[in-house]
Amino acid sequence: MKDLILSVKNLSKSYGDLEVLKDINMDVREGEVISVIGPSGSGKSTFLRCINLLEEPNSGTISYQNEVINQGKYNRRKLHREIGMVFQKFNLFPHMTVLKNITYAPQKLKIASKKEIEAKARELLSKVGLAMKADEMPNNLSGGQQQRVAIARALAMSPKILLFDEPTSALDPELVGEVLKVMKTLADEGMTMVVVTHEMGFAREVSNHLIFMENGYIVEEGDPKEIFAHPKNERTAQFLSSVL
Ligand SMILES: Nc1ncnc2c1ncn2[C@@H]1O[C@H](COP(=O)(O)OP(=O)(O)OP(=O)(O)O)[C@@H](O)[C@H]1O
Ligand SMILES: [Mg+2]
Repeated sequence: MKDLILSVKNLSKSYGDLEVLKDINMDVREGEVISVIGPSGSGKSTFLRCINLLEEPNSGTISYQNEVINQGKYNRRKLHREIGMVFQKFNLFPHMTVLKNITYAPQKLKIASKKEIEAKARELLSKVGLAMKADEMPNNLSGGQQQRVAIARALAMSPKILLFDEPTSALDPELVGEVLKVMKTLADEGMTMVVVTHEMGFAREVSNHLIFMENGYIVEEGDPKEIFAHPKNERTAQFLSSVL
């Protein structure tokens, strides 16, 4: 079996009196693609944000490469290099060209020479099918193109894990496919990914583990094809029948 890279144990998170995550457990092994599905407000984004310490959990542990990261002084900068995130609304820097969006953080952190960083950025732009857009400003790109730039930007840090928070939900339907295709390529190449998604086709066909969340709990999880075919929990069945 592949190495465990991330392990979440008994994670809970509240905002005031509102318990948003309740005793969440998840193991991620290298190369795994985990899809997280569930109704709005069930805690999916909060869960992702806890994983890379954008939110502080109230209790429980998050271990990355066998080291607890949410207690004591773990190096957040290192963590944000190694666990990348792609957001629903792309979050590109609007005043920078596409190329600069991708090279900015690697150059700031000096992870390689300027020349190497730029060469890699151009390579990544080709990979997501946007080599010709290097000098454009983000606003001149379609949503699907912007999201592919955001994925290239995340990849420029050579992350060990990529987190996606509904990467296609802000897109016009005809642009969803081009982003999913890039994500599928990454999955096929062995990238470790945790993907919050409403794209049931992706969840079923591309991921190798499915988590269904509701009301802060993981209600059901397992093999995606098995859950889609035979959900064990009544709430999972209801949710799937409402979205399929
Ligand atoms: N910063 C915050 N302060 C207070 N409450 C919050 C905060 N962030 C999220 N919540 C609440 O936590 C709950 C879970 O929110 P979260 O965004 O994680 O859900 P979600 O599953 O991602 O939903 P969606 O599918 O709509 O994106 C919601 O009730 C939300 O209102
Ligand atoms: Mg969300």
